[in-house]
Amino acid sequence: MPDRWSREGLLAVPPEEFGVAAFAVLLHALARVDRPVVGLPTGRTPVALYEEMQRESFVFPEGSRLFAIDEYCWREPHPGTNAAFFARHLPGVPIRVPRHDAPHPDAEIAEFCRAVADAGGLDVAVVGIGADGHIAFNEPGSTTDSPCRVTLLAEPTRAQIAGDWQPQPTHGMTLGLAELLRARRIVLLASGESKAAILATALDGPVTPDVPASFLQGHPALTVVCDSAAASQLRPC
Ligand code: GLP
Repeated sequence: MPDRWSREGLLAVPPEEFGVAAFAVLLHALARVDRPVVGLPTGRTPVALYEEMQRESFVFPEGSRLFAIDEYCWREPHPGTNAAFFARHLPGVPIRVPRHDAPHPDAEIAEFCRAVADAGGLDVAVVGIGADGHIAFNEPGSTTDSPCRVTLLAEPTRAQIAGDWQPQPTHGMTLGLAELLRARRIVLLASGESKAAILATALDGPVTPDVPASFLQGHPALTVVCDSAAASQLRPC
């Protein structure tokens, strides 16, 4: 497969251009909306995007409403929270994140979800893909009507963060596939060889709750931004 190629809604670029490409796609998505409501992911994948935003001194349009798409349940202060992630990678950007230490996570994520709904729902959802095909914390078994909720993190998800943080969290709070799939536009980010197989399964395989990201196939305004390593097992166009 060549280093750079595209098919409808899919942009694959050399790894060193991933952040620039993701930023360009985000800008394009934001340009279409007034006071955009945006869902933002954490993880290793979006770091290149956030670095590019910083490099460009990017400021979200006035009136933007920014939401994290998920957060861990961690009762103690912890550097591994998504709130801490955003403070590190997008310092000063007002992103609402569910409180990781909320005494009642069910109530916390319900209130968070109401805030997203009150804002009019997501205009743009930026998402990554987990090793098991999860989107935000919608683990295998999630369906298109899975709502905002507290989820039990699957083993591969815990393993993914195990190297980084101890002790591992067991639960997360997440926007549901229902809220994410209702976003007017979805931008899926994937980078690195470790995402090649799951990206191909999600985009070219059957649509199934076993691979929550496969539901993205049915979204009318999906843009996939990936690097050539992550794209390496996709069906050629
Ligand atoms: C976590 C996050 C997801 C993210 C996924 C992939 O589970 N909850 O939102 O997409 O990890 O992370 P990474 O980009 O580090 O592979």
